[in-house]
Amino acid sequence: MKDDLKNVLFSEDEIKQRVGQLGARITHDYAGASPLLLGVLKGSFIFLADLARTIELNCEIRFIAVSSYGLASFTSGRVEFDSNLDFEIARRHVILIEDILDSGETLTALRSFISGYCPASLKICSMLDKPARRKVPISADYLGFECPDEFIVGYGLDYAERYRNLPYIASLKPEIYT
Ligand code: IMP
Ligand code: MG
Repeated sequence: MKDDLKNVLFSEDEIKQRVGQLGARITHDYAGASPLLLGVLKGSFIFLADLARTIELNCEIRFIAVSSYGLASFTSGRVEFDSNLDFEIARRHVILIEDILDSGETLTALRSFISGYCPASLKICSMLDKPARRKVPISADYLGFECPDEFIVGYGLDYAERYRNLPYIASLKPEIYT
């Protein structure tokens, strides 16, 4: 698995430190509230698990399943998500938790969908941002790291459902995905 990687971009220690900072900011910003952490499956599962343990608030954790990629390494531009929510959004302070902001299409679609349920507030927390690839203007309110325009894996991010379990964030060798 390691032979497929080009560079380690963010080590386990760097991630841990950054996630702790994000959790402290969220704890501060939402003091007295109980935010709803809404994880975007599947890529955010590790980030959310770590982040949630650094947030010292009585928060609720839910997930929404979204896919736009299939097995391709580029976005298909067609965002699909399960729109049957079995929980309340109205009057909640919702924080969307995502692995990476790439074209921005996924979070743009999700943000407008969630907005329709009248949350008290709606913010975006993304582990990574790849600004070079943005197609629609959107940015994270809470961001882990900016990353280069390469295909990224690890810490929840996959290529064809693999590499999610790497404890660090790395770029994949182009010959693996082209
Ligand atoms: P967007 O809609 O183009 O912003 O894409 C967002 C989704 O595409 C993310 O939630 C990821 O699941 C996936 N994605 C985008 N870039 C990468 C990458 O470099 N590695 C792995 N998954 C990615
Ligand atoms: Mg994702």
